[in-house]
Amino acid sequence: MNHLIAPSILASDFGNLSKECQMVNESKADWFHIDVMDGVFVPNISFGFPVIKSIKSLAKKKLDVHLMIVNPEKYIQKFKSVGADILTVHFEACNHLHRTICEIKENDMKAGVAINPHTSINSLENVIGDIDLVCLMSVNPGFGGQKFIKNTFNKVRELNKIRNDKNCSFLIEIDGGVNLQNSKELVSLGADVLVAGSFVFKSENPIETIKKLKQY
Ligand code: DX5
Ligand code: ZN
Repeated sequence: MNHLIAPSILASDFGNLSKECQMVNESKADWFHIDVMDGVFVPNISFGFPVIKSIKSLAKKKLDVHLMIVNPEKYIQKFKSVGADILTVHFEACNHLHRTICEIKENDMKAGVAINPHTSINSLENVIGDIDLVCLMSVNPGFGGQKFIKNTFNKVRELNKIRNDKNCSFLIEIDGGVNLQNSKELVSLGADVLVAGSFVFKSENPIETIKKLKQY
């Protein structure tokens, strides 16, 4: 499978959201990555349902919604109703992760689980067969534009081995600090989805930048 690119809307110009969405539609990007932050799980607040609904009305590609919020299980149906196609919750934010994964799938979305840089891959051992996507955070969640944490390379390698050994089909997504310096290695180690915020939206030619990230 060719790897997917998911530009993170967090780094876009919110004053020109429709133009930014159009750019993603016209580009070789595969998904829209949408970061929801609550100021509790992470020290930052981004945006919520009305903004996602607007993006959905403009987007011609899937919405990959990344919840950096506590108690995400409270809002599963609501995120479905505003257009989420993939819904990712944090391992660190869920007391009943297995139930939450099941509920996301019962609501006809793909279920993703994200883990912070300090969380080991082994933490997912008992749910790994139930997950559609594992998001490896390659920065501490909360902000765009941070530096890529190199230990992520080891985690991708480890997760890819588990996927092969257990014959699982989940996607491996990398989120944070992705650029052309690390994208090639990430893909060669087994990453399937690269999220890129600042590197795309702050570049001179975002369409061209997406194309380059897609080339490896
Ligand atoms: C970080 C978010 C990321 C962020 C990525 O908490 O989950 O999706 O938008 O942005 P960059 O690519 O700028 O690190
Ligand atoms: Zn994200």
